[in-house]
Amino acid sequence: MLSVEDLRVSFRVYEGMLRVVDGVSFSVRRGERVGLVGETGCGKTTTMKAIMRIQASNATVKGKILFEGKDVLGMTPGNLQRWRRNSVSMVFQDPTSALNPVFTIGDQLREVIRCSQDGGERLDAAKIEKIAERALGDVSLGDSARILANYPFQLSGGMRQRICIAMSVATSRQLLLADEPGTSLDVTIQDQILRLISDLVRDKGLSVVLVTHSLGVVREMTDRVYVMYAGNMVESGLTADLFRNPTHPYTIALMGCVPKLSGKGISQGIAGGMPDYLAPPKGCRFFPRCPEAKDVCRDEKPASREVGPDGHLAACHFRP
Ligand SMILES: Nc1ncnc2c1ncn2[C@@H]1O[C@H](COP(=O)(O)OP(=O)(O)OP(=O)(O)O)[C@@H](O)[C@H]1O
Ligand SMILES: [Mg+2]
Repeated sequence: MLSVEDLRVSFRVYEGMLRVVDGVSFSVRRGERVGLVGETGCGKTTTMKAIMRIQASNATVKGKILFEGKDVLGMTPGNLQRWRRNSVSMVFQDPTSALNPVFTIGDQLREVIRCSQDGGERLDAAKIEKIAERALGDVSLGDSARILANYPFQLSGGMRQRICIAMSVATSRQLLLADEPGTSLDVTIQDQILRLISDLVRDKGLSVVLVTHSLGVVREMTDRVYVMYAGNMVESGLTADLFRNPTHPYTIALMGCVPKLSGKGISQGIAGGMPDYLAPPKGCRFFPRCPEAKDVCRDEKPASREVGPDGHLAACHFRP
């Protein structure tokens, strides 16, 4: 359904060019739940925004993004708008800034429903109201009359995130890009939001790209997973395979960071920090932090190679 090939995103800033996303490739099949994990600042949101073509004005995007064979980066403004209306939607990391503070929830939700009617039948007000109510029901917001009349500041964070999800799924879309849909919320609400997304994905037969820091969430909710480090995909495979047999040194380190109930307190984390995107390492971007690094890692970028069955890939000079 979605295929991203060699995506590169750089940002022009005062000091020069930030080369953030550096040759990322991945794909999503119909009905598949794909996870994208990586630590903060590795370029997850940047990648999702590039797919929606809502990147910042200082960004340059190169590479290929194909949705059902259609070239997204080459779409005319009209086609792009049609594609966003009918095929793809995104739930943002921060539900507060995703809603317009000066319109009521009802105004915004109805507008989304109205605009999704692409030249076809015009919906009358009563029909729109019905769809809006059903959408709120879908995300377990019962008291629809009050919520529709409220402004975003009158709702809690969890409610706002539910509204954003309702907007994403109110009209039939095929692909949902969910960018850390729970991280700005407390843990219990985060769980509810994730369960909600997972139910919607199942009931409506959506494909989803779920962006998250949490390996636990990935394990529970996805069929396949991509691990991203500093703008590179370092490992990918079926979720079960990747957890059974993590292969790239970064993935191994990341899994080592999960606090375990039976473990000995809090883990050490991964020593060092993300590379500077102004002058990223020439070879493997994980090289400065990698316990197994050799000279070749500094000089040459490793290609993705098969390290296991069912398309389990890792980009490391010393794997397989
Ligand atoms: N418009 C911009 N101009 C300059 N740099 C930017 C811009 N947008 C993002 N960046 C930089 O790109 C890098 C990746 O940011 P991004 O938001 O994609 O990270 P992320 O993986 O989503 O992190 P998090 O998990 O914290 O959400 C960061 O270093 C960020 O500072
Ligand atoms: Mg992000």
